Amino acid sequence: MAAHAAFSAATAESGPASQTERWPVRIVGAGAGDAGDLTLRALAAIQEADVVFYDDLVDASILDLIPKTARQVFVGKRAGKPSTDQQDIHALVTDAAAQGLRVVRLKGGDPFLFGRGSEEAEAFAAHGFASEVVPGLSAAFVCAAAVGIPLTDRRHAAQVTFITATRADGSLNALTGLAGAGRTLVIYMGARLTQRIAAALLDSGVTPDLPVAIIEHGGRAAQRVRQATVGALAGAAAVLRADGPALLIIGDVVRARVATARKPFALTGLELSHV
Ligand SMILES: C[S@@+](CC[C@H](N)C(=O)[O-])C[C@H]1O[C@@H](n2cnc3c(N)ncnc32)[C@H](O)[C@@H]1O
Repeated sequence: MAAHAAFSAATAESGPASQTERWPVRIVGAGAGDAGDLTLRALAAIQEADVVFYDDLVDASILDLIPKTARQVFVGKRAGKPSTDQQDIHALVTDAAAQGLRVVRLKGGDPFLFGRGSEEAEAFAAHGFASEVVPGLSAAFVCAAAVGIPLTDRRHAAQVTFITATRADGSLNALTGLAGAGRTLVIYMGARLTQRIAAALLDSGVTPDLPVAIIEHGGRAAQRVRQATVGALAGAAAVLRADGPALLIIGDVVRARVATARKPFALTGLELSHV
């Protein structure tokens, strides 16, 4: 609870912003890339906040858009250290809301896609605080656009599945029937498990030459893309493993990759207000 105590002490100095009605806690998707992927609704929420509780996957270019008058509280996971406990996050956020502050809970990508947005909304509601969810561009969309891989293409894939590599208990999610002809499979949180994923796909009957793209830090300055096949990946985990946030896109759409000229985004002088 150390982070919790620190936050309470610090906000007591700055004091709550004046407001006539209680704000909902805004659970805001920051998008998975840089500030260019922020929605206008998300930007307005950030600009109106008194305090922003943010995760580690939120890009620095987005944190730069938080007004200097607002407090920024990191509640993510720092290299090698455990994440802020989920219960502590709930306590920090509800404490701030109870002080009458305009609170933004800023999360990477979309809050409702592998983002625990619903767990947090439930916890805030249990403390008597309504929330408003602001969607964000999930990693699948940002990575696909950033590297030019269409998630669907009528010549290659008419369906797409988003899945996390593992279940809550750490075991690999079943992949049977999710990859192969006519389908795209997008795997979140699988960068360190590429060899096991590839082996599971081969066991499920996928052909070894099915292409895989590994996109690390998609849509950001540090972006790195590598391409392999399921067969090659089954034996090359050490070589192809990613250390930053990474997404696997698996399917014939990888071969349909188009050239894209996307560059990091620079934001100048944009101001919005929420009505
Ligand atoms: C806890 S999930 C959060 C997903 C997020 N809610 C979303 O909609 O993108 C974190 C995983 O998302 C993926 N991810 C998030 N940002 C990414 C990025 N910029 N590039 C590649 N993968 C990313 C990675 O698989 C990472 O391990």
